[in-house]
Parts: sequence; structure tokens; C-alpha cells
Amino acid sequence: MPHMFEPLTVRGVTLRNRICVSPMCQYSSVDGHATDWHLVHLGSRAVGGAALVIAEATAVEPEGRISFEDAGIWADSHIEPLKRITKFIEEQGSVPGIQIAHAGRKASTKRPWEGGGKLPLDQNGWQPVGPSAIPFDTDYLMPRELTLDEIGAIQEKFVAAVQRSLKAGFKWMELHAAHGYLCHSFHSPLSNQRSDQYGGSFENRVRFTIETATKVRKAWPQDLPMSVRLSCSDWADGGWTIEESIELSKQLKSLGVDLIDCSSGAGTPHAKIPVGANYQVQFAEAIKREAGIMTGAVGMITEPMQADAIVRMEQADVIFLARELLRDPYWPVHAAQIVHKSDAVSLPDAYHYAAYPKRK
Ligand SMILES: Cc1cc2nc3c(=O)[nH]c(=O)nc-3n(C[C@H](O)[C@H](O)[C@H](O)COP(=O)(O)O)c2cc1C
Repeated sequence: MPHMFEPLTVRGVTLRNRICVSPMCQYSSVDGHATDWHLVHLGSRAVGGAALVIAEATAVEPEGRISFEDAGIWADSHIEPLKRITKFIEEQGSVPGIQIAHAGRKASTKRPWEGGGKLPLDQNGWQPVGPSAIPFDTDYLMPRELTLDEIGAIQEKFVAAVQRSLKAGFKWMELHAAHGYLCHSFHSPLSNQRSDQYGGSFENRVRFTIETATKVRKAWPQDLPMSVRLSCSDWADGGWTIEESIELSKQLKSLGVDLIDCSSGAGTPHAKIPVGANYQVQFAEAIKREAGIMTGAVGMITEPMQADAIVRMEQADVIFLARELLRDPYWPVHAAQIVHKSDAVSLPDAYHYAAYPKRK
């Protein structure tokens, strides 16, 4: 039976344990460029023992940023600052990952500590785009409906972003198809009311994601893993469902996606979400079982025994932690000690799996 400190090999990459840093926007980039902040933020989680460190939602074009200070990979000048970070992460024995993203209709917002909501056009804001001209909420900008040509052009920007990610030294690539951003907004009937081949039926609503995933998988080396983050349910009447996520996951598996990172919500402000410990684990478990693909569980996972049990009960293959790793970058090392006491692994092994550095 697997446990949280058992390594996991996916294609040509081995994770030293099952603990992954969930992507987290830092609102600290300069024109999309990573800074010392990102080196320390991501680097310290690698030092702390996480197996996989996924950098925040990184925009494939400037208009695909959520906030003006988001990370980007739309230009070659973004590569060098990221290279410094991926090198450092690898030197700690961790795997550097990147989440490539387009914010869609949720673009052009203020940073959370500035109150969130729309960033008006005259304050460095820009025109968001989406499948349909339906705003996310009353305090968001009205998106412009994408034309077929624009859809194709954005997909090519995803491909270019993946090529730059490889040059920057990333070894794991995640496509962001969750949280109401562009891919997810195509999935959900609440945000997609198109009448062409990208709207209506299930097959049409997932077309943008399937096409994009196919193109980026081809541009990403066969020996490197790719995951897709899904909002597995909109938690809202008339919205995207777990049954649709299972069907989409089957299709993603067949085109070469290795793991589904199972999040939920954020596609509509009217969702009713029963937030609590493990509240999204059910999605990771259902997709793993029904679609036969590896999954990651995320959301309100904070305790070592809680996380270890999810892996042992085969509800998910890996655990993504966000806020708990902000609170404690050394969570994997601390968790190794706690899980050890309940017999999972011997203490030296636990430290080895959690944090053994591969410094030259
Ligand atoms: C500061 C912050 C930034 C986030 N940015 C992203 C992001 O860039 N991409 C993403 O998919 N999720 C993002 N999330 C969501 C987290 O990755 C995670 O799914 C969520 O916080 C639930 O996990 P937790 O309970 O361990 O925090 C962010 C969360 C936080 C707290």
C-alpha cells in the first residue's frame, strides 16, 4: 500500500514523496517576470521537503493575467529569471513545475489586498475575453466573446508558453483548467453559451481544453509529466458536474495527460460549497477510480495523518497543499516525523524522502 513518503515515478521524473506545492499566485511579478520573491517563496518550499513545487498560474499572454502583477511566460525575457528558480529547486532534490494559464473572463482584477474586483481600463486594466459575453460577477469587467481565429491564436500561445517553460528548466507542466479561468469557463454552461463548435453539448464545451491539451502535450517532451487542474464541480445548479469531469479526465488520459489535480468551484459566485477538511477528496477518488488516471487531492488538507491516509486509502496519488505550506514551508519534514511515529517509515528514511538535498 503506498504512503505519503513513498516515491512516485511519473514518466522520467521521480517525486521523492507525495507532497506537492499547490500553485499560488504571488502578485509579485514585474511585467510577468519572476523576482527574488519567487526564488525565496518557491525555493523555501523545496528546501522544506516538498517533492513537487508548482509555480503559480503563469499567463500565456499579458491579457491572460488575473492581476497586473501575475507571472507570465509570453516572452523570452521571462525564461532567465525562472531558470534561476528551477535550478535551485532541483538542487534541493525537488521537481520544478509550472502551471500555464489564461485568466479568461476573470482577468484584470485588483490584488486581493487591494480589495479584489475589477481593475478598470484606466488603471492598468485591460479587456477580458471569454467564450461568451457574460461577466463573472457584478464587480467584474464584461468579457468580449472570442472569435474562432482568436481561440486558435490563444492555443498557439499555450504552445509557445510550454516551449519556454522547457527552456526555463521546468520538469512538470500543469494546464490550468479550473477556477473559472479560460478553460473552465468553456466547460461550464453557466459561462459558455456559444452556438458554434465550442458551446452547447459536452463534446463542444470541452473542445477548447481537449485541443489545447493535445497541442501542449505534443510540445512537451514525452519523458516529462503533464497534469491538468480541473474544477471538478461548479457546485451550482445548471453548472459543470463531477460526471462531466470524469468523462473529460478519460479523454485527457487518452491524449497523454498523466494526472488530474482535483480542485473545484470558482466558476460562479453563486456556488454552494460545503468547505471543510477533505471536501474535494471525493473528486480525486472518483476520477482515480472511474477514469483510471492518477489524481492529486487538494483543499483543506492540513494534518500529516490526514494527508497520509488519503494516499494510503488510494483516494489520490499525491497531495497538493497551498495555505498550510505558506504557514509552514517545512511541513513535509515535520510530517515525516509525525507519520514515522505511527510506523509509516523509519525516521532516517522519512527525512530522506522528505528533504534529502542533492547539492553538488
Ligand atoms: C494565495 C493563493 C494563491 C493561489 N493561486 C492559485 C493559482 O495560481 N493557481 C491555482 O490553480 N490555484 C491557486 N490557489 C488555490 C490553491 O492552489 C489551492 O487549490 C487552495 O488554496 C486550496 O488548498 P489549501 O486548502 O491547501 O489552501 C491559490 C490559493 C492561495 C491561498
